[in-house]
Amino acid sequence: MTSRSFKIAVLAGDGIGPEIVGEAIKILKAISDKKDVALELTEGLVGGSAYDSCGEPLPQATLDLARQSDAVLFGAIGGPQWEKLAYSVRPERALLGLRKELGLFANLRPVLAFDELLDISPLKNTIARGVDIMIVRELTGDVYFGEPRGISTDSAGRRRGINTMIYTEDEVRRIAVIAFRVAQKRKKNIVSVDKANVLECQELWRKVVNEVARDYPEVSVRNMYVDNCAMQLVRDPAQFDVIVSTNLFADILSDEAAMLTGSIGMLASASLGDKHALYEPIHGSAPDIAGKNIANPLATILSVALMLRYSLAMPEEALLVEKAVNEVLQDGFRTKDIFQEGKKLVGTEDMGEETLKKLANLLK
Ligand code: IPM
Ligand code: MG
Repeated sequence: MTSRSFKIAVLAGDGIGPEIVGEAIKILKAISDKKDVALELTEGLVGGSAYDSCGEPLPQATLDLARQSDAVLFGAIGGPQWEKLAYSVRPERALLGLRKELGLFANLRPVLAFDELLDISPLKNTIARGVDIMIVRELTGDVYFGEPRGISTDSAGRRRGINTMIYTEDEVRRIAVIAFRVAQKRKKNIVSVDKANVLECQELWRKVVNEVARDYPEVSVRNMYVDNCAMQLVRDPAQFDVIVSTNLFADILSDEAAMLTGSIGMLASASLGDKHALYEPIHGSAPDIAGKNIANPLATILSVALMLRYSLAMPEEALLVEKAVNEVLQDGFRTKDIFQEGKKLVGTEDMGEETLKKLANLLK
């Protein structure tokens, strides 16, 4: 008898999405086979491939599937063939739509430097070693969703583009609360990133974060301007434990921080709301290497670890998946994006397979 069962929506998407998600699913299945858990996996169309088959990047059936699931495993979306489409049906709209419709306001992006990969970081080993940052990104507000927006043309035919940076205090408070709770379980050190010296919306962000801080006296908080943070991340990343920021700024900072670890192909993420959760690698669909069995599946596999931890109540198994990834790296297996001389170059499937072997051992 299986005591627990979970519904998982699998939205592989475009480009390398299906390949990397395929490997991550093997990991999930290995765990459910071994443990007393039944996982019901259902695939759905999303992104450019959904547009091609039904004319929209986020079909209603996919949204319904995501809503009825305990968690969504998401691959990647986008590609050059869809770049000329109207903005409203671009593959990216699917991801933004899922975030908004599922209320996924809290995006956790762990930035962890693996010792094994220190040499491929563009930063000196002395700077990159030991980097362990949790970026908490607000995900359903800011210029991403603010109105008014659009491009208009005046009577003289001149175009004008507009987006609106907007945050309500409730939106800031709920993401700040998440960040403080995350920090409580870590080194109790938050840097809240804004541009309060120039933008009123950001001044409100700073005020509200500092109000929330009063409820967490054991957590230390610093407010930092985003330009300074971009610089500090490469100057001295070890100063950071938890970074909390707005949707746009944290989007940019998380790509920057990813490179501390050597490859964006290693970074996982969890997007959490009150009722739903979505897990995805933070990298994109890499159309140039799609279908060639060379993409790195580890970020997606690490996203499965986050799913085990936050949605499936299996924190021990989450640790085992992370451990398996570490061991595979220690054994010298490398996909192309993280390859160095002297290591063993493997493809997507072999990397998945090696991780699976390590996991099977750890699950014994
Ligand atoms: C991310 C991506 C997305 C974003 C794109 C694909 C819409 O860059 O998840 O970081 O801007 O949020
Ligand atoms: Mg991004």
